[in-house]
Amino acid sequence: MLVAVTRGVSPDIGHCELTHLEREPIDIDVARTQHTLYERVLEDLGCRIEHLADEPDFPDSVFVEDIAVVLGELAVITRPGALSRRGERPSIERALSPHRRLAHIRAPGILDGGDVLVAGRSIHVGLSTRSNVEAVEQLRRIVADHGYEVFEVGFRGCLHLKSAATAVSNDTLLINPEWVDAGTFPGKTCIPVDPSEPNAANVVRVGDTVLFAAAFPRTGGRLAAAGFDVQPVEASELAKAEGALTCCSLLFDVPNPIEHSTQE
Ligand code: GLY
Repeated sequence: MLVAVTRGVSPDIGHCELTHLEREPIDIDVARTQHTLYERVLEDLGCRIEHLADEPDFPDSVFVEDIAVVLGELAVITRPGALSRRGERPSIERALSPHRRLAHIRAPGILDGGDVLVAGRSIHVGLSTRSNVEAVEQLRRIVADHGYEVFEVGFRGCLHLKSAATAVSNDTLLINPEWVDAGTFPGKTCIPVDPSEPNAANVVRVGDTVLFAAAFPRTGGRLAAAGFDVQPVEASELAKAEGALTCCSLLFDVPNPIEHSTQE
């Protein structure tokens, strides 16, 4: 079964990190309502939600994705590029340690999970203000025994690689070609977002369903036309904090409890 690790919206979200956006007021109640609906959609799709305790002192702590990269074999705890986010790690380590062996990115490496796009056995890491080549080298060594290939990716125009590209299947990506070149992903089919929706490339795969931000119906339509089972999710308020759909969960497989107890 799938587990989704999530965390509620910090009351201090108004002081979140911003890189490409101007600060504008965030309605905390709307943000929390949308986040709860996001969790409900994940639950309806079969995920078990592990909702972590709030971290009021960490404005960006709802964006749990940045703190770990969870693979089938292990979880890599990142060293976030923003100093203000490093204190988010202990609670994520505690949440993941029952499920995965943990490895760590160490200084001078910096890595945000939002820059790490996993598609099958390919791991594409965006080089950004939050993620550097030292971290890519460390990640490459950490996963070397598990058959993954790790690629460095250049991109522009957005904070994290996964605002420019996400996986809709192991061999198909949704990309904004203005922000990342399709040629960066050899062997993958790339579907471009609708040109009027530059922020639409961040989608979440949950089993056979692809969640897309409701603000981007044209891109959702493109995915549907390509044969994907799509579902819109409202995410407009946290978008003001430079967060998107993938940012709000760590999704990974765990053994189905029923199958597990049958084997014992
Ligand atoms: N506000 C999202 C981030 O910077 O990490």
